[in-house]
Amino acid sequence: MSELNASILSYPHRGHWGDNTYRGNCSGHVIKDLLDTYHPDNFIEVFSGGGTGEDVAAEYGYKDSIHLDLNNGWDALKDDLPRSSDFIFSHPPYWSIIDYNKVRGEYTDTDLSCNSSYEEFIFKLDQVNEKIYNALTVGGRHAILIGDVRKKGHYYSIVKDMTWIGVLESHLIKQQFNTESSKYQYNGKFIPITHEHLLVFKKIGVWQVDVKWTRDVHYNLLEMNRVTWRALVQSAIQELGGQATLAQLYDILKGCKRAESVSDWKAKIRQTLRASGFKRVKKGTYTLDIS
Ligand SMILES: C[S@@+](CC[C@H](N)C(=O)[O-])C[C@H]1O[C@@H](n2cnc3c(N)ncnc32)[C@H](O)[C@@H]1O
Repeated sequence: MSELNASILSYPHRGHWGDNTYRGNCSGHVIKDLLDTYHPDNFIEVFSGGGTGEDVAAEYGYKDSIHLDLNNGWDALKDDLPRSSDFIFSHPPYWSIIDYNKVRGEYTDTDLSCNSSYEEFIFKLDQVNEKIYNALTVGGRHAILIGDVRKKGHYYSIVKDMTWIGVLESHLIKQQFNTESSKYQYNGKFIPITHEHLLVFKKIGVWQVDVKWTRDVHYNLLEMNRVTWRALVQSAIQELGGQATLAQLYDILKGCKRAESVSDWKAKIRQTLRASGFKRVKKGTYTLDIS
C-alpha cells in the first residue's frame, strides 16, 4: 500500500506492469498509488497504451476495470465511455512528440498525436477531457498525467493551455527519468523538461461543471492604464536602443494612456528618470542603470 502523501512523485523504476517497450509508457506506480489513495469502486483508464493500467488493475483485483485506446479499437474522439465510473485515469499523448500512428502501424486521423497544430491538439484534448468528466459519478475523480513539451525551441505548456474541467483537488509533479531531451548535451541555456504533471479533478455536482481556461492576450503598454511610469520610461529607452534624450521620450510617450490621467505627464517622466534605475549620461540623455 502506498497512499500519495506528498505532491512530488519520483519513481526511478517504472515497475513490472505493462509493456516497458511501449513508447511513452508510464510507471505503473502512478496508477497503483492513485488506486491506493482513492480506493475507487471501479476503474476506467483512457489512453491505456501498452497495458500498464490493465496490469495494475488485475493485480489489485479490479475484475471489471476498462482500458481504452485506439489500439484496442476505442476512439476517444468518436466513441463514448462505455459506462460511468468513480475513477478515471488518463495519460494522453504529449501532442505529436510520439506519433502513435507509427507505433500502431496504422493511420487514424483522430489520433491525438497526429501532426496537427498545437491549437487543434488542445481542442481535441479538451473534448476528451469533457467526455471523461461527464462519465464521472458525483464525487468521482479524473486523474490526468500530462507533460509539457518543447518543439522547435518553443515551450508549450499543455497543462496550462488545456481546459481544466472539474474542481482541481491535487496538482502533483512527477519526476521523469530517461527523457530523450535529457540524453543530449545542448549549447546555451537549455533546461530539459524532466517533470510531468498529475492533476486530480473532482466532480462535485450533478449538473454543475467547473471550467477554467487560459487565453493568450497581447497588450501594448502604451495603451494600458495599469502600468507604472517606470515601466513606460524603461520600455521607451529600450525601444531607442538603450539610450534616449528627453525629447525622444516625450515623443514616444506623448499619446500613452497613462498620460491622460496626469496633468503634467512630461514632469512625470522627468521625475521617473530621477529615481533609481536610470542614469543620466549627459545633459538631457538617459540610459537604464542596471549596474
Ligand atoms: C502516452 S500513451 C499512453 C501510455 C500508457 N499510459 C502506457 O503506460 O503504456 C497515449 C496513448 O493515446 C492513444 N491515443 C491517441 N489518440 C487516441 C484516440 N483518439 N483515442 C484513443 N486512444 C488514443 C495512443 O494510441 C497511445 O497509446
